[in-house]
Parts: sequence; C-alpha cells; structure tokens
Amino acid sequence: MAKKGSKYVCQECGGQSPQWLGKCPHCGRFGTMVEEIDEAPAVKGTISIPASKPTLLKDIEKQHYQRVKTGLNELDTVLGGGIVPYSIVLIGGDPGIGKSTILTQVAGSLSKTEKVLYVSAEESLSHVKLRCDRLNIAGENLTVLCESRLEEIEKVSKDYDYIIVDSIQAIYLSELSSSQGSVAQIKECASRLMRLAKTSKKTVFVIGHVTKDGAIAGPKVLEHIMDTVLYFEGEPQDSLKILRAVKNRFGSAQEVGVFEMTEQGIKEVKDYNGVFMSEERGAQAGSVVTQSISGNRCMPVEIQTLISKTVFGMPRRMPIGVDYNRMVLIIAVLERKAYIPFFNQDVYVNAMGGIKLNEPSSDLAIALSLASAVKNAPVNKGVTAFGELGLTGEVRAVSFAEKRLLNALKLGFKTVVVPKRNYDAVKKYADKIEIIPVSYLSQAIKAVIKDNEKDA
Ligand SMILES: Nc1ncnc2c1ncn2[C@@H]1O[C@H](COP(=O)(O)OP(=O)(O)OP(=O)(O)O)[C@@H](O)[C@H]1O
Ligand SMILES: [Mg+2]
Repeated sequence: MAKKGSKYVCQECGGQSPQWLGKCPHCGRFGTMVEEIDEAPAVKGTISIPASKPTLLKDIEKQHYQRVKTGLNELDTVLGGGIVPYSIVLIGGDPGIGKSTILTQVAGSLSKTEKVLYVSAEESLSHVKLRCDRLNIAGENLTVLCESRLEEIEKVSKDYDYIIVDSIQAIYLSELSSSQGSVAQIKECASRLMRLAKTSKKTVFVIGHVTKDGAIAGPKVLEHIMDTVLYFEGEPQDSLKILRAVKNRFGSAQEVGVFEMTEQGIKEVKDYNGVFMSEERGAQAGSVVTQSISGNRCMPVEIQTLISKTVFGMPRRMPIGVDYNRMVLIIAVLERKAYIPFFNQDVYVNAMGGIKLNEPSSDLAIALSLASAVKNAPVNKGVTAFGELGLTGEVRAVSFAEKRLLNALKLGFKTVVVPKRNYDAVKKYADKIEIIPVSYLSQAIKAVIKDNEKDA
C-alpha cells in the first residue's frame, strides 16, 4: 500500500492506483507503476491555447506563415516543408542516436539569422561547446543555457524566437513535488512549453527519450500536446539514421528523412536509392527489391531472407525492419497456398539499411524473398515486385502503383511484378518495362523463381 500522501502512477498512460500493481489496470502494460507524491494539480486545464471569442469562419483573418528552413533539406521535408512558426516539435529516439546533434546543427543554422536559445538540461556548457566545435558551428548568435528549472527557462526565453529544450525528461517545475521525469512533470512541462509557443510566439523544439519498447517516455498526452512528433530510428552500430514523422499537424505524417552520422555531424543522404539495396543482389537466393512509398517519396528497398535448418523443435522467426506478425502470416500463406515448407526452417528476414517497412505493399516482395531462399533460386536483380497479400494467397491492389512502377523504371529495373488489379493503371508503360500482372502468389513465384531446387 502506498504511504500516506503518495500514489502509484502509470508512466505510460498516467493511470493511478493507491497501491503498487504489476499491471496497469488502465492501459494493461506491465511494470509501469511508479510511486509519486500525492499532490493537488498546480495548474488547472493543463492543455490550453489562448482563448478566443466565437468567430465566424469567414471573419477569421488569414495568416500566411512562411515556413523557415532548418538548413537540412531532409529535415525540412519531414516537417512538411520547413518549420511552421510558433509550433512545438518533439524529436524522440534511442540514446546516442543523434537527437542533440541534429538540433545543435539546426540551432547553428537558424542562429545565423534568428535569436536561438539552446537549453541543455543534460550536458554542461563545455560539453555543448565541444559538440559545436566538432560540428563546426561558430554560432556567434547562439545562446546556450544549462538549466533544468522550467521557470528559469521561461524567464530567459523572452528574448529569443527559437527555443530548443534538451530534454523534456530532464526539466522540471519546482512547484510540483514529483520527481524529474515523472508523468506529472513531463505533462506539466510540455503544456507550459506549448503555452510558451502559442502565447509568446516562440518556436519550440523538444527532445524526448524513448522507453525500451521504442515509445516516447512519458504519458501519451505528451504526443497530443505537440504539433509535430518525429522519431529518429536506426541501428546503433549503423551510421545510417532515419527520421520519421509520426504526427504532423502541418504536413504528411508519412514522410521519412535519411541521414548519415559522421564525425562532422548529421549529413543528409540525398541519393537514397542505393542505400536500401545492394549492387550484389540477384547473385544469391533470398533477395528481392520492393518499391516502398513513404510520404511523397518512393524508395527501393531490398528484402533479404536467410533460411537455416531448425536444430531444436521450435523454428525461429526473426524479422528486422518487417513486422513479426506480418512475416508469420506470409510464411503461413506460403505453406498453405504455395506448398513451400517452413516447419523445419529457421527464418531470418531483413529490410536493408535499417528501414522499417510498414506498408502491406511489401508483402509480395517478402513472400518472393522467402520462396527464393527456400528454393535456393536467386531472383534476377532486374526484378522488383509490389503487392499486398491476402490470406487466401491472392495478390491485392496497392495505392500509388504508377508511382512505384515509374520509380522502378527510373532505376533501371527490367521486370516488375504488379497486382493484376493495378495492371490497367500501369499498362501504358508496357513497352518500356516488362510488367507481370499476377492475381495469386503462386503465379508470381512461378514467374520470377526458377525451380532449380537444391539443398540450401
Ligand atoms: N567524434 C565523433 N565521431 C563520430 N561520431 C561521433 C563522435 N562523437 C559523437 N558521435 C556520434 O554522435 C552520437 C551521439 O549523438 P548525440 O549526443 O546527439 O545523441 P543523443 O541522441 O542526443 O543521445 P542522448 O540520448 O544520450 O542525449 C554517438 O552515438 C556517435 O555516433
Ligand atoms: Mg543528447
């Protein structure tokens, strides 16, 4: 039982309980209840913007917001074309992925023309200076403040147009007695920063840490408060990093930006076509390229599969960049509808370059990659495929078929396997590229995988 004056609060959803529980009764997550001091909320109406009178839509004055460039084109794209003034943006990501680096670079670039305040609640002034030197940021007009009390940050922020807070988990409001990083603190600090952005006309960038599951640490309400939420993704040992918009009030939430971490900081990768596929594909069995759409761009992504005989009873299924359940489902469809056995095979699937394939349109390429690996028959490097897979083994139509096909054409692919229902939209390109329309998975396998089955 909690001591008098304390309660247990779920760090994921903010749900409360008078006693410790292993599972939060509100959101169902395990191990998220943490003891906090019981206190009356210090500020009423945590999420609020300046109030207005009821106004007719036609009478509302139109405001033309000029988007501001960050100095990194890829970041501008993910933001929907640049920073919208007086908005609040959250960047989340694993430890050490480069959150502070990218925002230091943005601060350096913005400070050439604007007044920028970089608030570091995690590092000392000399550490920030060290990073700026490494990134070659002179930043004559860039102000750095090491402070974790939000009240002080608010006081200092008056003179600046852009405020960067590193990080939301490290700042606190002294009027709340709960500890730094707790749900109450994060919620309150985020709402205060939001009010600062909207009422004092400042543009605010906030860094957020993520939990071990990859979600931004703190209550879900944190993401609701923000105008834009971006996630930095990538394997720690890989220099390639992907910035993904998960929420954007001023642009598409599908956009991704591709970056590379170098000693001189984060560099944008302009030509990402070669990043997610290798030149050697086609020589070995198990690799197939799909055309994946993220926001406005189409990227070729190579899917690689490795099969090995199961040693113990339970075969292993290990996807990287592909959803586990989706992969298991595709394996089941292959077993039942294409009669390819997987029951005694360990399966490892990898989407190259550390990208996460969320689209169902990559199903067909994943299935072809799996079939190619089991049959130990390579798929020609000039072949690409896209299409969604149904449980009965049918290949279903996908959106943006023409865009995907044109991208394949541009990159020099010779053959493209498309869902039959998309064929009408793309048949006009049949003289430039071989188009194989398929209704069922087995047709696609027959078309691109030669049956020279030998032991893998
Ligand atoms: N001298 C260097 N050369 C190359 N890369 C470096 C160098 N110094 C740091 N890095 C890269 O910068 C990364 C750290 O970046 P940064 O501090 O921006 O991460 P972060 O996301 O803010 O981390 P944290 O969550 O710990 O604050 C390191 O993981 C490393 O890859
Ligand atoms: Mg940092």
